[in-house]
Amino acid sequence: MNKETASLVQRLSCLHELSEAEYRCLVDGFTPELAEYAASLAVKARQAVYGNKVFIRGLIEITNACRNDCLYCGIRRSNRHCQRYRLSPQEILQCCDEGYELGFRTFVLQGGEDGFFTDDLLCELLQGLKSRYPLCAVTLSLGERPRESYARLREAGADRYLLRHETADREHYAKLHPHSMRFETRMRCLNDLKELGYQVGCGFMVGSPHQTSAELAKDLKFVEQFSPDMCGIGPFIPQADTPFGREKAGTAELTCYLLSLLRLIKPNLLLPSTTALGTIHPHGRELGILAGANVVMPNLSPPSVRKKYALYDNKLSDGSESAQCKAELVARMASIGYEIVTDRGDIQK
Ligand code: 5AD
Repeated sequence: MNKETASLVQRLSCLHELSEAEYRCLVDGFTPELAEYAASLAVKARQAVYGNKVFIRGLIEITNACRNDCLYCGIRRSNRHCQRYRLSPQEILQCCDEGYELGFRTFVLQGGEDGFFTDDLLCELLQGLKSRYPLCAVTLSLGERPRESYARLREAGADRYLLRHETADREHYAKLHPHSMRFETRMRCLNDLKELGYQVGCGFMVGSPHQTSAELAKDLKFVEQFSPDMCGIGPFIPQADTPFGREKAGTAELTCYLLSLLRLIKPNLLLPSTTALGTIHPHGRELGILAGANVVMPNLSPPSVRKKYALYDNKLSDGSESAQCKAELVARMASIGYEIVTDRGDIQK
């Protein structure tokens, strides 16, 4: 193993920070041996905070209508092949009822930026959810909204918000998004969410078009400095009906290595082993956990709409990805020495 990169990993695990140039050196220096070393330290770091517990979140994809036109995303506005749907508040509550029975204590309501989900509608839904399940956490993942909206949703009971920053590099951001989407707005949203007292998640894709080690180094530095409660990363996977439909996918190996580095940056980070990682590799979910992740988010959406939430091609939605198959997930995690717990799974401070 290269001495210089190994000692950087070692230093990261003690200091939880490096310079951007050092992060770049770590990304460029990726080898299977270095990744294995990083994973061993990451697993120790996670063990010290969370033991062998893995948190689960019930993911409900409430709408695939979206006003945005992100170049990588299968539910982008201009994709005519995408069959649109939206769940009614009643259907969403039914998903939560089912999830509660299955042992989920966090519900993640995720969707495109769909004007149907007004503040009024969401606040009523949140109040209903919170009075039914006062001990559960509710996470929203509904994209960019005005600060006022985030404030009202927080007031109505939302505990957490996921908004991936997608890339911490302004120029790279402009290559992944139409001109109407601004890097500044993304950052404004993330800062607002934090100030309003949400547990906040950012995140990025690994291997997205035009991404190099320079952009990934910026992502790592951004996570170090922003210090989110959660960070969602997964490989970019092309979706055939998008402008990036013929681009190369990111790899499970690099994604896992970055999961380890993120764990070393922030030992108590809530770090999901994502569906995209499970999609790109048959044992992706397990590999993510073994690299340092501690969260999995099975799908609680009604089976009839699951295939329609096609952010990328071949997105998994059955087997262990499905909340109804929790037993399978429990067994898969047990086989690698981890325990799925029935718990809100808040960040350990
Ligand atoms: N490949 C991988 N991840 C994707 N996302 C959107 N499109 C893709 C894709 N083609 C991710 C984005 C978004 C999250 C909901 O899904 O990072 O924030």
